[in-house]
Amino acid sequence: MPYLAKAALVRAHNAPVVVETITVADPQRDELTIRLQACGVCHSDLSVVTGTLPLPPPVVLGHEGMGQVVAVGAGVTGFAVGDSVLSSFISMCGQCRWCSSGRPELCNLAAKSVSTLPDGSLRTTDAAGQRLSIFSGCGVMAEYATLHVSNVVAIDATGVAPECCALVSCGVMTGWGAAVNTARVVAGSTCVVFGAGGVGLNAIQGCAMSGAAAIVAVDPNDAKLTLARAFGATHTLAPEPGQDVAKALRKLTGGGADYAFECVGLGSVLAQAFGCLRKAGTAVMVGVARPDDQVSVRCSSLLFEEKTLTGSLYGGARPRVDFPRLLGLYQAGRLKLDELVTRRYSIDDAPQAFDDLASGRNARGVIVF
Ligand code: APR
Ligand code: ZN
Repeated sequence: MPYLAKAALVRAHNAPVVVETITVADPQRDELTIRLQACGVCHSDLSVVTGTLPLPPPVVLGHEGMGQVVAVGAGVTGFAVGDSVLSSFISMCGQCRWCSSGRPELCNLAAKSVSTLPDGSLRTTDAAGQRLSIFSGCGVMAEYATLHVSNVVAIDATGVAPECCALVSCGVMTGWGAAVNTARVVAGSTCVVFGAGGVGLNAIQGCAMSGAAAIVAVDPNDAKLTLARAFGATHTLAPEPGQDVAKALRKLTGGGADYAFECVGLGSVLAQAFGCLRKAGTAVMVGVARPDDQVSVRCSSLLFEEKTLTGSLYGGARPRVDFPRLLGLYQAGRLKLDELVTRRYSIDDAPQAFDDLASGRNARGVIVF
C-alpha cells in the first residue's frame, strides 16, 4: 500500500521551500521503503533551492536521512523490516570500474540518479498525481521514501540519536572524509579549512583526528569560528572585505599550509586555498560550486612547487565501510556528533530550517520526524 508522507519540496528556484503531503509508492525490485526518523538540512539542499545545483523542480529535498526499513522489494538481500539505515546520496552499482577500484563515489550509476532512482523512474507523486523528482536518488526530507538498495546503508545505531546518525550520511562523511580519505592528512601537518559549517567542522575534526599540529578555520561568521575551536581548530581567521586572505594565511601558518580544504562552494575561495599552500601542499575542493564557476591557477606553481589541486566528492566515501566506521568512532567517544546539531525542526518547519541555514544560524539544523 502506498504511503502518504509530509515532504519538503522545491517548487520553484529561489522561492521558499514548501511542505506538502506526497504519495510514496511501494518498493519495486531492488528497492526499499524507509520511514524517516531524522534528516539533516545541508547546504547542498539549499543549492537545489537556489539552482546552484541545477535540478528542474519539482524536487523532493533531502539526502542526509536516517530511518527504519518498513518494506523490502523483491530481490533485496541483507535488509529486513525494522533495520536502521542511512541514505547514501550516491548509487553504488558495485560493478563499474569505479566501484571495483574502491571509489564508489564516482560510480557510473550515480550520474544517472541525480534526480530519480538509478533506472530513471520515480515512486513519488503529489496530490494531483504529478511525478516529483528526488534529490540525488534520495528525497529523504519526507516521512517516507522509497530508495534503490544501492542508496541505502544498514547501520548499528545503538546509543546514537537519530539526528546524529543522519549527519553521518552527508556532512560528517563529506568533511571528515576529505581530510582522512582524500587528502590523507599526515600527523604534524598544518591545515586550513575554509567554511566552518556542517561540512567544514567535520573537515576540522578529520584533520584533528589525523594528528594535524595546526588547524586554521576561516569563516566570516564569528559564531562558526567559536564552534571550529571546539572541533579542533587551533587558529581562526575571519576574513575582512578586500583582505588578501591567502597572504594572511601564509603569514599565520609560518610559510603556508600543507593542506587546504574549500568547504564553501566558491571558486574564489578555492583560489585562496591554493594560494595559502606551502611547497608540496594540497588544495581540496569539497564545496559544490555553480557549474560555470571557474578559477585559474599559476601552472608554474604546480610544477616548481609540486602542489596538488584535487576534489573530494562525498569525502571519498565508501558508505558501507565508512558510515559504520564513523558511527563506531562516535560510540567510542572519538567523534563529535551531538555538538553539530544546533536545532531540531518538525517537517512543518522546514521552510524556517532553510532560512536559518541561509543566514548561518546553525552548525546543522535537523528535521526530526
Ligand atoms: N570564506 C570562508 N567561509 C565562508 C565564506 C568565505 N568567503 N563564505 C561563506 N563562508 C562560510 C559560511 O559562513 C558558513 O559557515 O561557509 C560556511 C558554509 O557552511 P554551511 O552553510 O553549513 O554549508 P555546508 O552544509 O557545510 O556545506 C558547505 O559543502 O557539501 C557542500 O554543497 C555544500 O557547497 C556546500 C559546502
Ligand atoms: Zn549534503
